[in-house]
Amino acid sequence: MDNGIQMDQPGRDRSTGDSPGQRPAVRGRPWSARGWAARAIGAIAIALLLLSAGGVALAYYGTDDNLVVGYAPVQPVEFSHKLHAGDLMLDCRFCHTTSERGPMAGFPSTRLCMNCHAQILPESVKLLPVRATFAENRPIAWVRVTKLPEFTYFDHSVHSVAGIGCSSCHGRVDLMLRTEQAVSLSMGFCLGCHRDPAPFIRDVADITNMAWLPKSPPSAVAMSLSASTPKPTPPLHCSGCHR
Ligand code: HEC
Ligand code: HEC
Ligand code: HEC
Ligand code: HEC
Ligand code: HEC
Repeated sequence: MDNGIQMDQPGRDRSTGDSPGQRPAVRGRPWSARGWAARAIGAIAIALLLLSAGGVALAYYGTDDNLVVGYAPVQPVEFSHKLHAGDLMLDCRFCHTTSERGPMAGFPSTRLCMNCHAQILPESVKLLPVRATFAENRPIAWVRVTKLPEFTYFDHSVHSVAGIGCSSCHGRVDLMLRTEQAVSLSMGFCLGCHRDPAPFIRDVADITNMAWLPKSPPSAVAMSLSASTPKPTPPLHCSGCHR
């Protein structure tokens, strides 16, 4: 700094007790045990607050978009699931390749779009951002529709393998012109199924079948599951989803 004021920098001269970057440190300020203790207690209080789920929600998330049915942010490209998944009947896993194998369903690469769009509508204005990002070799900055707070844990593959289909949590994506939140992804929603998953369990071959409807009484698949194989035991304890 050449403005004459000595700015405090992270990790620098901690003995003054000033937290980094807060305000100009006064040189030669006497070390104050009380000040240090007050700050230490403050830091511990904040750490405890952050550890509690509510605190983390406030600190890292700050929005409740995951709870809002109909939330449909404007995307950098007017991508339509109705066209691609509905009319063209592309399987969900064609683009969300890791939805069966990993915790994340993932987003398709721009290359995948260009596999078709190098030929299909190569001049389309709507596809300009796709061509631009592809040329610059960077991903399209999709705006997240379904995003849980950071303090929750979710895994797609566990649900796919157990025969829980995309539509149980995301609704009729194949009918959406712009992707929207169909279901409020609240804790109560998760627990509602975890307490009694049987009516929602389908044949694994059907997990991307959008027209499938939950059965009550439980489907034949669920019945045979409970008879022959160990019943699925979705977690109800807090640490199952808050790890
Ligand atoms: C041609 C590729 C493609 C296919 C096929 C496809 N998707 Fe997508 N999906 C995308 C793209 C691109 C986005 C990001 C833009 C958006 O949100 O519309 C997306 C976003 C989503 C999102 C929102 C995720 C978030 O948090 O932002 C969900 C949910 C989703 N897809 C589910 C599905 C389901 C279910 C199917 C099958 C019925 C499907 N997708 C088929 C390309 C595809
Ligand atoms: C049991 C509920 C559930 C099922 C079943 C489910 N999802 Fe999701 N999905 C979620 C939740 C919750 C999120 C947000 C995860 C987060 O924020 O960590 C999500 C996020 C996504 C995303 C955004 C990217 C990502 O991976 O976070 C896409 C795309 C998506 N899901 C597609 C699918 C597809 C395709 C299927 C079917 C093969 C599917 N989902 C099945 C609940 C579900
Ligand atoms: C399997 C081939 C295929 C893939 C892969 C594909 N699309 Fe398409 N897309 C099409 C077809 C076919 C149309 C409709 C063409 C028409 O209307 O004549 C279309 C139309 C569109 C349109 C409308 C363009 C306009 O001018 O009306 C947009 C935007 C679009 N796609 C975006 C994407 C994005 C983004 C991806 C990658 C996530 C993608 N597409 C992947 C086949 C594909
Ligand atoms: C429609 C039913 C259904 C919904 C909705 C649902 N789950 Fe599940 N969940 C299951 C089933 C079935 C299992 C698998 C249990 C097994 O295999 O024993 C499971 C397993 C899990 C597991 C255990 C994963 C592991 O690694 O052991 C977690 C964590 C989980 N779910 C989180 C969530 C969260 C968070 C939500 C809400 C966003 C949610 N689930 C919504 C049915 C559901
Ligand atoms: C099946 C998964 C699951 C289980 C089990 C679970 N939670 Fe949650 N919890 C969630 C999800 C998903 C959210 C985020 C919903 C939201 O945004 O409000 C959440 C949110 C919370 C929040 C923040 C609420 C808010 O308004 O921000 C608290 C606190 C919490 N859970 C405590 C618990 C406790 C305590 C338990 C055990 C009795 C528990 N959870 C068990 C999935 C779960």
